[in-house]
Amino acid sequence: MLCKNIGVSGAHLTFAGRDTVALAQQYDTPLYLMDEDRIRENCRIYMTAMREAFGDKSFPLYASKAACFKRLYEIMKEEGMAVDLVSSGEIFTAVKAGFPMERAVFHGNNKTDADIAYAIDCGVGYFVADGMFELLAVDEIAREKGITQKVMLRLTPGIDPHTYDAVATGKVDSKFGTAIETGQAAQLVEQALQLQNIRVVGYHCHVGSQVFDEEGDVYLNAADIMMDFGAQMERKFGLVMEMLNLGGGYGVRYVEDDPYVDIGENIRMVAEHIKALADKLHIAMPAILMEPGRSIVADAGMTLYTVGTVKEIPGYKNYVSIDGGMTDNPRFALYGSRYTVHLANRMDEGCDFCCDVVGRCCESGDVIQPEVKLPKPNRGDVVAVCTTGAYNYSMASNYNRVGRPAVVMLSGGKDYVAVRRESLEDMVQNDL
Ligand code: LLP
Repeated sequence: MLCKNIGVSGAHLTFAGRDTVALAQQYDTPLYLMDEDRIRENCRIYMTAMREAFGDKSFPLYASKAACFKRLYEIMKEEGMAVDLVSSGEIFTAVKAGFPMERAVFHGNNKTDADIAYAIDCGVGYFVADGMFELLAVDEIAREKGITQKVMLRLTPGIDPHTYDAVATGKVDSKFGTAIETGQAAQLVEQALQLQNIRVVGYHCHVGSQVFDEEGDVYLNAADIMMDFGAQMERKFGLVMEMLNLGGGYGVRYVEDDPYVDIGENIRMVAEHIKALADKLHIAMPAILMEPGRSIVADAGMTLYTVGTVKEIPGYKNYVSIDGGMTDNPRFALYGSRYTVHLANRMDEGCDFCCDVVGRCCESGDVIQPEVKLPKPNRGDVVAVCTTGAYNYSMASNYNRVGRPAVVMLSGGKDYVAVRRESLEDMVQNDL
């Protein structure tokens, strides 16, 4: 199986040790399941590896764009994680969950004045500033509020992480950050040092997402460029790099032939490299931050659906329509993402029926996964799509006025609703 939290008992698929068919009956479908124990395990892989490899000042942040609801911030707080937030909505959710905001880092390439003011009012620990426009705005609003805001500067190291274009973010021509190669990053530092109400504590880069780094050089190259830049700025302006945030991005396995990333091992490798660089460049070792999203929650998620119709077009193809679709998982429509799909109530049968598993939205692009092999489904069968914990609930929409599914958490043999299913009433609640 794709992940150790997925199994089979009799004819039924299990997730986090629970019968998925029974859960589908109990909670109705479509349904997001989240394995809380797996989320905690994933956090601990980062916490332990980073503390051991980099020391106590270093820490991982959960990039909550991957999945954002109150319960997740409670779990992150309990696990000692920091969080990466990208909007006033994410900040509000974290605040509502009682997350300690000094452990929050505020991202985004176009924070509005209202976002900046709100983040400062909430006591967000750090801003990751994208460029000069933002630095000036943060400085001004911080001055009005009588504080000095800690800031990391988001830089583009000019690295191709070999992933799909929509999520490659560290190249020079990216919409994010300020480029090192063009000399603009050095100018940004010089200008930032003139501002009275911000304190530059270090630098940030994020090369991209779903990065497998099979050659083992993506993160090392990023570290080379960032450390070298930090050393140059120290020599030139006396600015000590207290923190270096290397972003997120480690890839997860959606299908059996995706490679497996040993995150602990990777972190150790990066740590050794950075320590050697610090020695070579004669600078102090900065605190290292990493901000994983996908690798914290993706394999802790599974989505359950019910089959509605099976359409066979002889000589062409077969469609299996389920009761969800691009509204709860737009990732195939957007990126052509691959997924592992099971017929959860008939796991003991051969998979000899090739079909496109499609949603119920009014467009042909509403595909969850093409060319899937299943036992030929019947109306009422349960379809399970694996590894949907990241960027599924968080990217869900109300297209066609379809409500978002509930999120049910599984932990230690227990289950509870973390996000309730959107009702028909919810569909009109903002309509005047
Ligand atoms: N830090 C920054 C600044 C980011 O932009 C991201 C992701 C992360 C951390 C977390 O990266 P992760 O560890 O999750 O790869 N919607 C797309 C993914 C977008 C990623 C955006 N940024 C998808 O469904 O594949």
